Parts: sequence; C-alpha cells; structure tokens
Amino acid sequence: MFTEAQLYSPVTHTSDGDVTVHLSDEHPGVRDRHYRDRRNAIAALALHHTPDEPLPRVDYTDAEHEVWRTVSAELAREHRTHACAEVLAAAEALALPTDHIPQLDEVSTALEPLTGFRYAPAAGLVPLRQFFGSFGRGVFHSTQYIRHHSAPLYTPEPDAIHEIIGHANQLASPRFAAVYTAVGAAVDRLSTDRALKFLADVFWFSMEFGVVREQGDIRCYGAGLLSSYGELGEFRSAQLRPLHIAAMGSAQYDITRYQPILYCADSIAEIEDVIGGFFTDMDDDTPERLLRSSGIRTR
Ligand SMILES: [Fe+2]
Repeated sequence: MFTEAQLYSPVTHTSDGDVTVHLSDEHPGVRDRHYRDRRNAIAALALHHTPDEPLPRVDYTDAEHEVWRTVSAELAREHRTHACAEVLAAAEALALPTDHIPQLDEVSTALEPLTGFRYAPAAGLVPLRQFFGSFGRGVFHSTQYIRHHSAPLYTPEPDAIHEIIGHANQLASPRFAAVYTAVGAAVDRLSTDRALKFLADVFWFSMEFGVVREQGDIRCYGAGLLSSYGELGEFRSAQLRPLHIAAMGSAQYDITRYQPILYCADSIAEIEDVIGGFFTDMDDDTPERLLRSSGIRTR
C-alpha cells in the first residue's frame, strides 16, 4: 500500500517550540548527533514558517553543499543516458546550480518563469490532500534537509535532492507541469480518502516512477527515478507494463525497494492523454468504475 508517511521521518514538536525529527534505526545519520541536530533545526524552520513570510533559508554547511555537488554531478551524468528528452530539455532550461544546494526561493525564481510553479517549505510529510491539492495553485511542498554525508548516493527518505533534482527538473517542463496542475484540480473535486489514495497511487506510478519509450530505448521521467542514483542503473531490469490507470491505482507495492513493475508510456503525448486525462476527469466515483470495468477486485 502506498503512503508517503512510510517514507518521511516523523517530526514532533513540543509546546515550547522544540522540534524533533525521529530517524529510523537504519538511517545512515541516526548515530550522528550533529546531523540529528541539523535535521531538527531545518525542520523547525519549516514548522515555524507562515505563508506571509519570505521562504526560510537554510544556512547549509560546506559538508552539506559537498553532498549536493557529488550527487548532482553523478545524477547529471546518469540523466544523459537514462532521462527522457523532455526532462533533459526542462533541466537545461531550469539550470539548477551544481556547486551549492539552492534555497527554495532560488528554485522558485528559476521555475516560476518556466511553468508558474513555486516551492514552499515542508518539515516532513505533508498530508496528501494538502500536498497534491497545492499543485492546483502552482505550489510544490519541499523538504530542505539533505541526506547524510556517509552515503551520498543513497537516502531512505525524500530529501532536497529528490524534491529539487527530481521534481523541479520535471516541473520545469510545461507538459509535465500541466499534469501536476490537473492533479491539484482533481483533489478539489475529491471528498473520499479512497479516491485520494487512488490518485496518489497513479501519481506514484507516473510522475514518481514513470518511464517512456523513446527512439527504441526506455527512458525515465519519474522524479523518484530521476533522483535515485541506484534505481537509475536498475530500472531497465523492471517488468514493463503499458499504462493502465486501474492497475496503477490499485497495485500493491513496497516503497522501500526498487520497483519491480514499472508502467511505460509510448510517448509524452500518451502520458498527457492517459495520465493527464485521468487526472483531468477523475471524481470520487472514477476509481470504482475503472476497477469494475477492468475486472480488478479490491477489498
Ligand atoms: Fe516525490
């Protein structure tokens, strides 16, 4: 079952303002006191931020910038052979910095002229309705912390590298940004948690882990693939299936492993028609109707 709550480290705060990020025992930074303090401080910035204030800026350390430099260079190299042309063109237009972690306002300033999207801070998990619904207003909620320096090419949770190198490079494409906007508009029409989860699962298998056929090759466009050094080298081993909304919205999967099944579009136009079209039309009753007509049984 999909829920990003399984991905993000829980964040708690006391009435006197103390913020704690609870890293799992397997997290590479869990035994690093300095890293844990940084995580608490960065989460506090987002938690204490109000929308009428300027976006919070993190005073990143040299070690944190070094992680960004390492990973962004490796991912850029991988993208040349694994990312689809639409993402490569969007990334070139966005021109993210490679020498430092960009602040959220820096990302917004580069992104807004391209597609109107801007970034907002998140301490950790943002409730699904708020996270997806804000796409309709051109807002993407992003965490600001960075993975532990001991394992720069791995992260158990979405960090600034996933949010920015994965999502902003995708959001810089007007064609993909239009899909996000349709997701946001759909959320405003949904009242049931079941429909919202179905939407989130279709998003997972498209905008997070989608691949597309391109000149006889398989290329990726999903943000989860674009930001994962390990998965970029592995996704061609996955079992590929054609786009199928009912199957994507009801699949059982393990988010902690490389995805064994990926849904492959024949073109960007098919992503717009099938995925974008689904988000544009969906309402509370759509999932049930699609599942029934495809003969897929759910509880
Ligand atoms: Fe994501």
